[in-house]
Amino acid sequence: MIGNINHVGVATPSIEESVKLYRDVLGATKIGEKFSMPEQGVWVCFVDLPNAQIELIEPYGEESPIHNFLKQNPNGGQHHVCFEVEDILKARDEMKAKGARVLGEPRIGAHGTPVIFVHPKDMGGVLVELMEIPKEAH
Ligand code: CO
Repeated sequence: MIGNINHVGVATPSIEESVKLYRDVLGATKIGEKFSMPEQGVWVCFVDLPNAQIELIEPYGEESPIHNFLKQNPNGGQHHVCFEVEDILKARDEMKAKGARVLGEPRIGAHGTPVIFVHPKDMGGVLVELMEIPKEAH
């Protein structure tokens, strides 16, 4: 049911510092502008790779869900993996039917299409994001 890896989410205390790593050490050349998603409590910056992206996420505001993660991983770390799906509602229903806990309702993610998150306890320890691919991509 899942398709391509769309991105790997990496939490960081500083997007600026992480950009230096991806640009200067790893040699990434296509790095977008940092932007805020206040309703998700994160700053986001995408590093484009030939086949996928790295999504750098930094806490935005006091209520950010990333604060807890950074408390346990003060230097940042791999936070989630995002797979593409054709239909987010179908994916949600299938996850639930198979006993995996879906966190909340579908919401618009950083790419402007609906996403859901699936609990890491039901995903082998990995927080999984499922993202509906834009319809016009077909
Ligand atoms: Co993501």
